[in-house]
Amino acid sequence: MTIIDCVNDPQLFRPLFKSLDTWRTWFVVLKAIFALPMTEEDLVLFRHLTGRTKPPREQVQEGWFIKGRRAGGSFIVALIAVFLACFQNYKPHLALGERGIIMIIAADRKQSRVIMRYLSAMLQSVPMLAAMIVRQDAESIELDNSIVIEITTANYRTIRGYTVVAALCDEIAFWRSEESANPAEEILAALRPAMATIPGALLLGLSSPYKRSGPLYNAYKRHYGHGESPVLVIQAATRTMNPTVPQRVIDDAMERDPAAASAEYLAQFRSDVGSFLEVELIERAIEPGRRERPPQDRFRYVSFTDPSGGSHDSFTLAIAHAEGDRYVLDVCRAVKPPFDPSSVVKEYAALLKIYRLYEVTGDHYSGEWVRESFSKCGITYRHSELTKSELYLESLPLFSQGCIDLLDIRALTVELMQLERRTGRSGRDTVDHPPGAGSRDDLANSCCGALTLLAESERRTGYMVNFVTGKILTERELWKRSLLS
Ligand SMILES: Nc1ncnc2c1ncn2[C@@H]1O[C@H](COP(=O)(O)OP(=O)(O)OP(=O)(O)O)[C@@H](O)[C@H]1O
Ligand SMILES: [Mg+2]
Repeated sequence: MTIIDCVNDPQLFRPLFKSLDTWRTWFVVLKAIFALPMTEEDLVLFRHLTGRTKPPREQVQEGWFIKGRRAGGSFIVALIAVFLACFQNYKPHLALGERGIIMIIAADRKQSRVIMRYLSAMLQSVPMLAAMIVRQDAESIELDNSIVIEITTANYRTIRGYTVVAALCDEIAFWRSEESANPAEEILAALRPAMATIPGALLLGLSSPYKRSGPLYNAYKRHYGHGESPVLVIQAATRTMNPTVPQRVIDDAMERDPAAASAEYLAQFRSDVGSFLEVELIERAIEPGRRERPPQDRFRYVSFTDPSGGSHDSFTLAIAHAEGDRYVLDVCRAVKPPFDPSSVVKEYAALLKIYRLYEVTGDHYSGEWVRESFSKCGITYRHSELTKSELYLESLPLFSQGCIDLLDIRALTVELMQLERRTGRSGRDTVDHPPGAGSRDDLANSCCGALTLLAESERRTGYMVNFVTGKILTERELWKRSLLS
């Protein structure tokens, strides 16, 4: 039985579709993936979707689908998972007692719940399939044929040791993790060996596109439109896949933000979003193994904080000092939510005083409570003159010149690596963390805030002190530095 037979069968999946007409393009995609016969009309659509002339002759083992939002991607992920789980026979490739995993990886918990609901509905709606369920919980469904469908998020770390018969990666361009700057690459690298013992194991990545890097973009660049490539790449706008999305919704989005809307609805990779800091610039600034630097009497410190009310974001604090021509980060701490903000303020105030600091600078938009709480602890809270984006942009030359000494804090490194630069419609750049759950920049914000404070104070005083010798730098030394920078 093919997946198209299942879709057309009134006893199986036919009732899941109100009208088969609106799903036509998806059926062409399914025919392409599973190398099923196509009509002349299908072929025209296939060529439009893939830039290839001939469809694959055998089941695809690796496919990438660049789609618009609301295109039906998550539903199709669930459909493919149920089809593979219930109608494919993996038994010959599994050892006695071994389980074959169909791994669905979503960008976050909310999306994984969406897929789980689709899966449950599909299985439960067909009594024959519902009867196959041995065990079901929030993240997995085990069937009586040694197949387990597992839904996880990109934070998942335990693919090792599993036998994966299919991996379906939903919204892969938006996978984020606090521990890794490239979770998608790392998870794919772990998945491939887990799939090696299953002939015909299927790796599918579906996503709306985002920036021009990462596995989705790399697959697109290497394989889109390449007739002979074993890797199938499909690109389709929202309404090509799901004509029930009104054109008006797309027109409105294009009007509001054309760069975002052409990615979200027309499935075009964004040309206005790029990485902010090169990985090498960050790596060369880190002193391996150094988590914090103790205070020293000969240095004058500055500090920057990114406060938070305690329910969503971390409350972070960075302390830094200038030393000769180096900008040195001494402390970069985060308290993760949930927490009581006033006790974090107390903790940070005590830490600041150890560095002989009685003022801290932070975000302009933070509530009055921040200023009051710090003031109660004897610390003056100053509003930063620069926006978060400006702080990042100001710190870029310091990274480029290699005059920063960072700390070896994994979460900070990941945040710095993930920062993105966007060119706005006005031509002005902004820098921020990428969209999506699990991506933040609280540590990066405090770190770059403190570093720019140092640079700013040097500019303001008009001369620089060599902090090692305690001497004011001569004009000639300053001139030499300006040549270097
Ligand atoms: N071709 C279609 N015909 C009719 N309805 C569709 C079609 N494609 C998707 N839908 C409906 O659109 C909604 C969104 O589907 P789904 O969640 O699968 O899309 P998605 O691409 O994952 O969206 P998102 O980008 O928001 O994650 C669902 O209600 C689904 O039934
Ligand atoms: Mg989805």
